[in-house]
Amino acid sequence: MQGIKVIAVTGCLGFIGSHFTRACLQRGWMVWGVDKKTYAARPELLEEFGQHKSFRYLEADIVKMEHLYDVDYVFNFAAETHVDNSIIDSARFSWSNIMGVENLLELIRGKRNYEMPVLVQISTDEVYGDVLNGKHTESDPLRPSNPYSASKASSDMLIIGWHRTHKVPYIIVRPTNNYGIDQYPEKLIPKAIKYLSLGKKIPLHGDGTYIRNWLHVEDTVSAILHIVEHGERNRIYNVSGNYEASNKEVIAKVLKAYFGAPVDLEQYVQFNFVRMGEDIRYSLDDSALRALGWNNAKDFDIEIKAVVEYYKSRFVW
Ligand SMILES: NC(=O)c1ccc[n+]([C@@H]2O[C@H](COP(=O)([O-])OP(=O)(O)OC[C@H]3O[C@@H](n4cnc5c(N)ncnc54)[C@H](O)[C@@H]3O)[C@@H](O)[C@H]2O)c1
Repeated sequence: MQGIKVIAVTGCLGFIGSHFTRACLQRGWMVWGVDKKTYAARPELLEEFGQHKSFRYLEADIVKMEHLYDVDYVFNFAAETHVDNSIIDSARFSWSNIMGVENLLELIRGKRNYEMPVLVQISTDEVYGDVLNGKHTESDPLRPSNPYSASKASSDMLIIGWHRTHKVPYIIVRPTNNYGIDQYPEKLIPKAIKYLSLGKKIPLHGDGTYIRNWLHVEDTVSAILHIVEHGERNRIYNVSGNYEASNKEVIAKVLKAYFGAPVDLEQYVQFNFVRMGEDIRYSLDDSALRALGWNNAKDFDIEIKAVVEYYKSRFVW
């Protein structure tokens, strides 16, 4: 990616997109940030990003965007992302996650006076569905379990089709569950701290034994940049965290960090919330990325203390 400095980042005010935007601005890249400002956006970040002369902001829905500036890469983080919401109302998910990607593909292929930018699509481990043993590789079939993951799998398929027909260049990145600061408190870790602050029990799906693989948001950012700089175009890369644990184990660590000592889990957790179609375990083989020389820099046991402290010291709405 030598010499490439002009990029578009959609979903720049969301959790991962904002960390990615910050990292690119710190590198001196020129960033067109695009966001629709849904409930999950953090508009207050515009003040920070706006301090960089190389940042421009466009408030727009990626489905309705009619023009794409001349950029070399489009990093698409814009999406509806919460599985529980998709079970209640899937329409917004099809709109942003499928039709949004279709519109970006059309804008890219419509480029006339500038080379087509590479679409870097931020997909998810959830497109494969769950895996009880072993790990999913990039060539595994997609078996999504809910409307959110089905919409993400659909957009991956659109990209592969647009590449074959229209030669739109792409990279699809599939990270596991992210954690870190500035995540909307519908997701497990910030939600747990919000409930603790309110003196309420933390709601957990089932008996808390569902397994997820946790990846620090800054590791996700470094993985995406590493893939763009060292990987191949027109292929898929899994990105795996270095901490696989049940939701119950994660909450035990959150509680320990919150109270400064281990506490009785049962006292703070309410089990048996039901998520229809619940995935039992996610796990990814990311040896293709590791072969490019990338490794996780963050350790869950160390980072969770800072993450808990961050959310504990400010109430996140
Ligand atoms: N958070 C995770 O654990 C995780 C894991 C794997 C993959 N992903 C993927 O990474 C991407 C980013 O996830 P996140 O957790 O940062 O999401 P988020 O929900 O925190 O933020 C999404 C952002 O996209 C914006 N947005 C939504 N629809 C839009 C539209 N139609 N047009 C323009 N902007 C729109 C929102 O306003 C918000 O700022 C998503 O594609 C998600 O599927 C997330």
